[in-house]
Amino acid sequence: MQNISISIDKTLDFISKESVFSYEQRIKELSHSLETGTGAGNDFLGWLHLPGSISEAEFADIEATAKTLREKCEVVVVAGIGGSYLGARAVIESLANSFEATTPRIVYAGNNIGEDYLAELTEYLADKQFGIINISKSGTTTETALAFRLLKTQLEMQVGKAEAALRIVAITDAEKGALRTLATQEGYKTFVIPDNVGGRFSVLTPVGLLPVAVAGFDIRQLVAGAVAMEKRCGEGTPFKENPAAVYAATRNELYRRGKKIEILANYNPKLHFVSEWWKQLYGESEGKEGKGIFPAAVDFTTDLHSMGQWIQDGERTIFETVISIAEANKKMLIPMDSENLDGLNFLAGKRVDEVNKMAELGTRLAHIDGGVPNLQIELPKLNEYYIGQLLYFFEIGCGISGYLLGVNPFDQPGVEAYKKNMFALLGKPGYEAESREIRKRL
Ligand code: PA5
Repeated sequence: MQNISISIDKTLDFISKESVFSYEQRIKELSHSLETGTGAGNDFLGWLHLPGSISEAEFADIEATAKTLREKCEVVVVAGIGGSYLGARAVIESLANSFEATTPRIVYAGNNIGEDYLAELTEYLADKQFGIINISKSGTTTETALAFRLLKTQLEMQVGKAEAALRIVAITDAEKGALRTLATQEGYKTFVIPDNVGGRFSVLTPVGLLPVAVAGFDIRQLVAGAVAMEKRCGEGTPFKENPAAVYAATRNELYRRGKKIEILANYNPKLHFVSEWWKQLYGESEGKEGKGIFPAAVDFTTDLHSMGQWIQDGERTIFETVISIAEANKKMLIPMDSENLDGLNFLAGKRVDEVNKMAELGTRLAHIDGGVPNLQIELPKLNEYYIGQLLYFFEIGCGISGYLLGVNPFDQPGVEAYKKNMFALLGKPGYEAESREIRKRL
């Protein structure tokens, strides 16, 4: 098996190799803090050795539950938001055919409060055999709870309460929260999100693994990839051989030099939700105390025709991290055309991927010329194993990077502000004082 790799060569017109390597000792200390649980947020480090600790019994339980849902359902709704949804979607959409739905088809709910969205989902499910994986660590997240209430009601009406209970799986806290209470009362199959694993670090728990297994992908390979990366990024690995350490050092050095925005770019539309997952991971982990690199994302070459202008010529506060896939999974040759009206015969006989690769290289060089430092993370192929490596690489890179920045990367106090206002505006019991205050501002 190969490994994913990182190259910082195309940042070196902007920062020196020495400046990146100057982080070596500090990262060694911070990796030790992670390892020994002596840093900030040390009650949320369950993800650190999670990949290597998943037992055969846990895999078997997830696979057996997935099999039941696969047998019973044409469609499975994954209800969750943020860390309780993005990881599963990132993996599934990376691996799924772009045009044919998986069997069962996986759809998502509980990640917005769009009435049209929920109404259309209800209409779509009306004649389908469907099931629900309801994911919420707190068990009280409004978006997810609201969607689940609607979906549960619909499922019970369509198949009866007893059968619905067999098609609903709850993934939540071991003991606390409304979802745990409901699941116990209704007799749903449940999985636990460990206390010491925060939502955005939970993709390798049942939160990510169950939906991925239901979609028909190999969770053992996914985890094997993560295990390989866990070993590669361990405390004992020398700095330059540790891709997560190099990534964390480089992005922090760029940030120190005024590059406040990191744009994660891909050249494969299947990676769109990997970027969404990464945005949450880094945004929620680092954006605090008035600090933090702003994580943005683009899908190339699509967005070269929109955001490309800004990236090439806009304010020079950005750097770019490109996820490259060395080898496309499928092969497609460009045909010769006797008329050549489109002028593309110079490409005849070449693979589409070769054109994509030249677009990628040309863009990287153009962006460097335009003042945009460029990191590259290369996956040998798009499959479960390398996606598993990538997920863990970003997780550990985030832990180190957040510590370098001097924040607690494992909390998210800022996300409560909107909830408080929303509850005050909606008149939730217990929010009477907030309600009175906020109304004065309207
Ligand atoms: O990373 C996080 O903590 C958040 O994105 C949560 O995952 C998200 O808010 C959903 O929370 P919960 O799983 O409690 O419903």
